[in-house]
Amino acid sequence: MFKTSWSSICSRFNLLSVIIILAICFWSISIGWGITCILHTFTRNAPMAIAASPDDGVYARYQAGQEFYLKTCSACHIALPPEVLPSETWKKLLENPNNHYGTSVPNLIRLGQLLMWDYLQTFSRTLSAKDEPIPFYVEQSRYFKLLHPRVKFKETVTHRSCIICHPGVENFDFRTLTPEWENSP
Ligand code: HEC
Ligand code: HEC
Repeated sequence: MFKTSWSSICSRFNLLSVIIILAICFWSISIGWGITCILHTFTRNAPMAIAASPDDGVYARYQAGQEFYLKTCSACHIALPPEVLPSETWKKLLENPNNHYGTSVPNLIRLGQLLMWDYLQTFSRTLSAKDEPIPFYVEQSRYFKLLHPRVKFKETVTHRSCIICHPGVENFDFRTLTPEWENSP
């Protein structure tokens, strides 16, 4: 007698948990779907252009991400343009703010991370092969080399050397070149 009622309570309890789990699933799916819809309306008209500087027109969707990026990532060195490194590098750097070249990036809040990732991944390319090593220095990045077809770098290139040829780095302008480069064939 006691046994049967206990087991019926048990099965009722199981049924209840199944209903709860289903409800949670349904809820997450509808939230996910909602977010996709919102993102879709945002992205529908945004072409995937690679922009090098703000005046190239970084679309409104990426503006907050770019501002966060410039604010957070130019505190210790210049902010590097997203296109010189693969998306995988940016991802790793954003995921590990406390393990950043022997130091740590302070005040990296979750929302900032998401906005920066949205911006950085849009304006960078992914590596073509899964087993391709992720470069952590511009010097090792083939995208950096691809952006410099005319330049034969003699010395190691770091965030400190960009200014030698790009006088506008402080304004995040990597299009303007020094007169020697501007006028050379
Ligand atoms: C607390 C200071 C600090 C902040 C803030 C900081 N970095 Fe750095 N970063 C460094 C140091 C130190 C290095 C090592 C390079 C060096 O020796 O100058 C470095 C190197 C880099 C390099 C390699 C540069 C090269 O020459 O190839 C990249 C890329 C980079 N940081 C990205 C970022 C990003 C993205 C952020 C923002 C999320 C950021 N950094 C914020 C201190 C910082
Ligand atoms: C020795 C000079 C030199 C140095 C150092 C240099 N660049 Fe350049 N950069 C150029 C030249 C010249 C071009 C134009 C492409 C070409 O002619 O190869 C260019 C083009 C670029 C572009 C493409 C700009 C566009 O038109 O959209 C980016 C981005 C860029 N450089 C980023 C960097 C960064 C970041 C650094 C530092 C890590 C750096 N460069 C260091 C000379 C240099």
